[in-house]
Amino acid sequence: MGRTIIVSNRLPIKIINDNGSLTYAASEGGLATGLDSVFKSGNNLWVGWPGIALDDNKKSEVTKTLLKQHMKPVFLSAKEIEDFYEGFSNETLWPNFHYFNQYTIYEEDLWIAYKKVNQKFSELVCDELEDGDTVWIHDYQLLLVPEMIREKKPNATIGFFLHIPFPSYESFRLLPWRRELLNGMLGSDFLGFHTYDDMRHFLSSVSRLAGLGNSNGTIKVKNRLVKADALPMGIDYDKYAASASAQETLIREARYRKSIGSIKLILSIDRLDYSKGIPQRLRAFDLFLTRHPEFNGKVSLFMVVVPSRDAVAKYKQLKEEIDLLVGSINGRYSRLNWIPIHYFYRSFPLPALSAFYRISDVALVSPMRDGMNLVCKEYVASKLDHKGVLILSEMAGASKELSDAIIVNPNDIQQLVGAMYKALTMPEELQIKSMKSMQESLKRYNIHAWVKLFMDQLRNVKNDQINLKTKTIDAAIELEIQAAYSHSKERLIFLDYDGTLSGFNANPDDSKPDEELQELLHKLTADSKNKVVVISGRGRHTLEEWLKPFPLEIVAEHGVWLKRIDKPFKTLMKINSDWKKDILSLLERYVNRTPGSFVEEKDYSLVWHYRKVETGLGEVRTRELTSHLKYMTANANLQVLEGDMIIEIKNSDINKGSAAMKLMEIYENTDFFMACGDDWTDEDTFKVLPETAFTIKVGGSESQAKYSVNSYKEIRGLLNKLIES
Ligand code: UDP
Ligand code: G6P
Repeated sequence: MGRTIIVSNRLPIKIINDNGSLTYAASEGGLATGLDSVFKSGNNLWVGWPGIALDDNKKSEVTKTLLKQHMKPVFLSAKEIEDFYEGFSNETLWPNFHYFNQYTIYEEDLWIAYKKVNQKFSELVCDELEDGDTVWIHDYQLLLVPEMIREKKPNATIGFFLHIPFPSYESFRLLPWRRELLNGMLGSDFLGFHTYDDMRHFLSSVSRLAGLGNSNGTIKVKNRLVKADALPMGIDYDKYAASASAQETLIREARYRKSIGSIKLILSIDRLDYSKGIPQRLRAFDLFLTRHPEFNGKVSLFMVVVPSRDAVAKYKQLKEEIDLLVGSINGRYSRLNWIPIHYFYRSFPLPALSAFYRISDVALVSPMRDGMNLVCKEYVASKLDHKGVLILSEMAGASKELSDAIIVNPNDIQQLVGAMYKALTMPEELQIKSMKSMQESLKRYNIHAWVKLFMDQLRNVKNDQINLKTKTIDAAIELEIQAAYSHSKERLIFLDYDGTLSGFNANPDDSKPDEELQELLHKLTADSKNKVVVISGRGRHTLEEWLKPFPLEIVAEHGVWLKRIDKPFKTLMKINSDWKKDILSLLERYVNRTPGSFVEEKDYSLVWHYRKVETGLGEVRTRELTSHLKYMTANANLQVLEGDMIIEIKNSDINKGSAAMKLMEIYENTDFFMACGDDWTDEDTFKVLPETAFTIKVGGSESQAKYSVNSYKEIRGLLNKLIES
């Protein structure tokens, strides 16, 4: 199996020059902390910068040390650090992507440095890349790398994940290099974003700047398919929960508690960054103390600010602003036995962070903009007794998942003050209820589920790309199929129903076989060499009623049921339906929010119908619901199928492919295989048939099928010709 090559600007380990001797320390920041656990789990390689400019004579020693830990350093000179890292990455892209355009610097020299360093990364990756490897590029510092690798290795499997927001077109268009940046990203096969809004913004820029539309996030770039989707990053839940109960953490917590006394604590942890809203938070705390004198002496803000990008002017200014604000608040409110703000400008190792998470009554996470924010997730995972309250900015990607937090607009100081009061006075039962619900969700959508979803999506795109090779049926192909048909002795013919044998009707109940179809099915089944299988997603009762007159086999509900000729329906396998309860309650929530939609409960699946929903709204909700469902089902053996105005959730083992395989075992002497279908559930049938099979897709979208036709009428025409041949 190939390796995964992770590529990010910063390695998870940084080198510190301690008076001439080099020491190694863990990097901070969500990307490094988040991916660390994943990366350690396989024979992977992480390519990135070790965080410092090194003299040439140190490079080989560092390379050796890092390689032992599966890391390959990209060395940057002091000038590259200044222009590429501090400059274009953090003074151009970072402010633009976080809607701080008043801070954005537009300088050609910085752009040139950005291109050169991206080239450097891509060359190193290309040197490492072997057949079967997957490249996973991360974040805004490396937007050009996907295309640069693609140019040298056209068939490479390349995924990209953006850890910060993707801005709306109105912000992105300000960048003079916007087209090059987008083209760079489009070198990927799959692009992941934290939220649906980020993905939507990206697609809108792709459409407006590159003139490329998309279908459900799939973009056709030249002859290649590229897919974008929202995949909010999770945390290594078990790691944080375990650390919260580790001996070292408990000892630290006891020590901190002893020195602080029995006051309440509001926790604030961020890298030094203007996107984090630290001054705004301090001003809100100031107002809180004025407005609620009863809390003076009873609550402190415990504030960790991790040094970051301190060579960048705006970060230096921010540091000064924070120092002044902390000084001013502490100066005004402190008492001999109480300080309002405990302020630390440094970074802490995990056991200390875990103790901070445990000891705090409230976590105040109020960024002005944040791609995701992992600190709030780590706080929740560390609350083993479920007590504690999270105040979370609606501008953080995490707010889309943690809706049980107290959600605030970080620009609304009144709301922040109100939220602090509410959090500090919240009854314990309510704290426990919200915390448990957030923990449930974080446990399920953990970092492992996130990686799996990303890799699955990447693999799916690669498959879809192969399938772009589907050919439209022409006269020559028709003759080839006819010849194979007439020379065969036993034929197995799989036919999907809706959209394949019959057109779509406004009311699906009106789709029963018309006269033309009845005649066709009579003729087709009259030939004893033909074993005809109607393989459909419809319920078994309808299919049985409609197809009663014909001697054919029926597979219903996408493979749950099989009806052999003249026999009753039987389930194809033993199926567990315990999952239905959780999914049903989610679907019901969507029904409440989406007038006209409804849920259908089938024996082994659940279906959300939106054909009666207002045009536009249904599509929007579908995307939301699908990504929600994909997360909920990530670690479960379930699949989410998008059909015609429906979303269906069912057990993964059930699909048309497994039903088709069963029939292939029964009809083992078949020498002519054919399958026709129009939606992606039919892809499972196409996939399991032998190479020699004639697989035919109805409609223009991508398919695993060898051939395609435009409509069900052509399928009827083709079948009639075969019967006559
Ligand atoms: N962090 C750390 N030491 C500290 C403070 C924070 O290792 O002293 C870690 C924290 O645990 C989290 C990450 O830094 O995993 C910050 O990630 P987040 O997504 O919250 O913000 P980012 O820095 O990526 O913008
Ligand atoms: C955010 C970014 C990461 C970055 C991290 C730390 O999480 O998304 O790409 O590594 O901040 O910033 P730094 O500039 O120190 O790498």
